[in-house]
Amino acid sequence: MKKISLIGAGNIGGTLAHLIALKDLANITLIDVAKGIPQGKALDISQSSSVELFDLKIQGSNNYSAMKDSDVVIITAGIPRLPGMTRDDLLETNTKIISDVGKAIKKFCPKAFLICITNPLDAMVSVLQFSSKVKPNMCVGMAGILDSSRMKYFIAQELKVSIQNIETFVLGGHGDTMVPMLRYTKISGIPIEKFIKNKMISHSKLNSIIKRTQDGGGEINRLLKKGTAFYAPASSAVQMAESYLKNKKMLLPCAAYLNGEYGVKDFYVGVPVIIGKKGVEKIIELSLNDQERKKFNKSIQAVKQLTKKALKLV
Ligand code: APR
Repeated sequence: MKKISLIGAGNIGGTLAHLIALKDLANITLIDVAKGIPQGKALDISQSSSVELFDLKIQGSNNYSAMKDSDVVIITAGIPRLPGMTRDDLLETNTKIISDVGKAIKKFCPKAFLICITNPLDAMVSVLQFSSKVKPNMCVGMAGILDSSRMKYFIAQELKVSIQNIETFVLGGHGDTMVPMLRYTKISGIPIEKFIKNKMISHSKLNSIIKRTQDGGGEINRLLKKGTAFYAPASSAVQMAESYLKNKKMLLPCAAYLNGEYGVKDFYVGVPVIIGKKGVEKIIELSLNDQERKKFNKSIQAVKQLTKKALKLV
C-alpha cells in the first residue's frame, strides 16, 4: 500500500482523508499542529471502514516525522480566508507555515510527489518547492481542476446537459485574474460556439459564468462565512494524486513550474499538464490568441508579484 500524508487536518485535510479512504487509494497520515484533531479524524474515518469496506490504515499525528517515506504529500496547512479577505491577504502567515512544511518534507520524504492547496496558491507552491528542494516536476499546485470544475458545473446547469459532457479548462493564476478558456470549451466534442449559434446560451450568459468562475471561491466563502470551499478542492487534489500513484497520465490543469513554456521562466502557473508516475511528465503548450495572451500575461504579472514577495519572506 502506498502512503499519502496530509499536512493540515482541517476542512480540506479531513475531506481528503475521507475521499482517499473511500477510494482505497493509500494508507493515510494526517498531520496538524492542533492537538487531537488529526488523531480524532483518523479514528472517525477508520471506524467507517467496516461499512465502507476499505482496509487501509489511517493515523493522526502532531509531528512532521510521521510523514516519513510518504509517496504523496498534500498540503493544506495554513490559515484560510475570512469573508472580505483575498487569497493574497494570507501571504505572510502561510509562507512561514509552508516553508516549515517544506523543510520537513526535505528531511522525511524528499522523493514524494507534492500537491499544494494552501493559498495564495501560486506563491505557496513556489515556497513549497523552494523549501523542500524537490525537483520542480514533483511539486504542483491544485487550482486549475477546481476552477475548471466550477466552470463546467455552471455551463452544465445553464445548458441542462450532463456535466460529464462538458470539457473546458482554466489557465493562469488561481485568483481573480485566472483565464477561463472559452475557445476550448466543448460539449461532448461540439464547440460551445454551436450552442451560442443555436441560442442555447448567450455571450452575456457565458461572460457571467466566467465572472462567477473567477469568484468561485469567494462566493462559497461568503455563504459559509467561517471557512472556504473544501469538498471540490479535496476532490480535485485526489484526482491529481490518483493520476500520479496509478500512472494514469491524465491531462489536468495544474499550477506547474514553467521553464520557458508560455514565455514564462522559473514560475509556477496554471497550465495543462500530464501527471504520471514521474510527476509532471509533460506541459502542454497551447497557442493563445491576442485576447487570451493579454489576459494570461496579466495573470502572470499578478502571480510573479506575489511569488517574489513570498520568496523574499522565506
Ligand atoms: N502544520 C500543520 N498544520 C497546520 C499548521 C502547521 N504549521 N498551521 C496550521 N495548520 C492547520 C490548522 O491547525 C488547520 O487545522 O491547517 C489546518 C487548516 O485547516 P482549515 O483552517 O480548516 O482550512 P481549510 O479549509 O482546510 O483550507 C486550508 O487551503 O484552500 C486553501 O485557502 C485555503 O489556505 C487554506 C488551505
